[in-house]
Amino acid sequence: MTSVLSNTPTAPGDDIEFATRDRISTLQLQRLQWSLKHAYDNVPHYRTAFDAAGVHPTDLKDLSDLAGFPFTAKADLRENYPFGMLAVPQDKVSRIHASSGTTGRPTVVGYTSNDISNWADLVARSLRAAGVRPADKVHVAYGYGLFTGGLGAHYGAERLGCTVIPMSGGMTDRQIQLIEDFEPDAIMVTPSYMLTIVDAMIKKGIDPATTSLRTGVFGAEPWTEEMRKEIETSLNMDAVDIYGLSEVMGPGVAMECVETKDGLHIWEDHFYPEIIDPETGAVLPDGEEGELVFTSLSKEAMPIIRYRTKDLTRLLPGTARTMRRMKKVTGRTDDMIILRGVNLFPTQIEELILTVPALSPQFQCVLERAGRMDNLIVKVEARPGVLSDQHAAASMALQTLIKNRIGVTVTVDIVGPEGIERSVGKAKRLIDKRPKI
Ligand code: DLL
Repeated sequence: MTSVLSNTPTAPGDDIEFATRDRISTLQLQRLQWSLKHAYDNVPHYRTAFDAAGVHPTDLKDLSDLAGFPFTAKADLRENYPFGMLAVPQDKVSRIHASSGTTGRPTVVGYTSNDISNWADLVARSLRAAGVRPADKVHVAYGYGLFTGGLGAHYGAERLGCTVIPMSGGMTDRQIQLIEDFEPDAIMVTPSYMLTIVDAMIKKGIDPATTSLRTGVFGAEPWTEEMRKEIETSLNMDAVDIYGLSEVMGPGVAMECVETKDGLHIWEDHFYPEIIDPETGAVLPDGEEGELVFTSLSKEAMPIIRYRTKDLTRLLPGTARTMRRMKKVTGRTDDMIILRGVNLFPTQIEELILTVPALSPQFQCVLERAGRMDNLIVKVEARPGVLSDQHAAASMALQTLIKNRIGVTVTVDIVGPEGIERSVGKAKRLIDKRPKI
């Protein structure tokens, strides 16, 4: 399948990014029919699953018919470890990525050279939406290797015509030195690692607002509007959100536009989104919150049909582009804390922490069990310069906010600077110390 994308700067009306909804739907239907057939003909797992559900690719006459096809879950990928989900012979696979996974087998994904090229086009498109331009210097601090972040960002920035600095994650002092010396225009990194870099700059006496960085392309983990403000102010830059997941491709499945910063446009010519009720699996109308599900429309090596991302969000109409937007991801179904009957996510805690001036965005949610009661301890660092006798007031302020806004009583533990382990990639916000039943 050849790419329909161009990597030249776009103008309204002349590119798929600005196509009419009719044109987008027509393309989606045609590609969806191809993708379902490709999966059914070449991946035994899909053939078995479709047959068991009594559906055949030719049953898809309309986009809404997709609701009759079975979901795919991470467990399906694990069961077919390592290469069972691939739809092409191995000599057509030009790259493998994998996610480590906390337990058991990693999740393996594969790409043909066309897939890699489409991916580069989509990341280039995403970077353009972020305001990055050809010849800009792009510092990539997502991890390189099996993680899709580093190489995905790298190929896209190269495709756009940028000068790429393939720094990878970690070695914070080196990151700072290269930002100072190479003067990049943009940085691609997890928001939590950006904060780690900012803290280290301040410790060295460098004002982060004075660097050359104008744009930050942040993703791979949830982050809030309050965090955007924090980062934009401390670095004097535009901070935009990039979303993706390895099973569907990697970074660049959806991207926020710098001119609106109002949620992420899903690149709907390559990925068909649905929102489902996570309990019943029913497809929900646009605008309602639920679990995001993706079907790939062009992937050759590893077509993915109705993949349950576990990410919670809503679909909204396009604004800066005609393609639909997804709201910033509030959390994952498996990151949800149910505390004494109330559902909450670490992002809600982040949002409230950042309204208390004495508190920094470095925090962790620790779940413990005392007797039969679960207790949530919000461990949060005070900002540098905040005296320890101010901790009690800050702690009380946060506890009251959480009680009033979320409706649960938590323990707030304020620690001094460096009291929370720093992230060099995805931050670990939730630590569950409850005994496993
Ligand atoms: O994190 C791909 C990526 C790399 C995206 C760099 C953006 C930037 P995985 O390791 O497979 O892939 O993790 C995917 O991370 O299901 C979400 O839960 C979370 N995630 C990714 N981007 C965002 C985001 C990469 N912008 C999982 N906001 C996804 C919130 C995100 N969560």
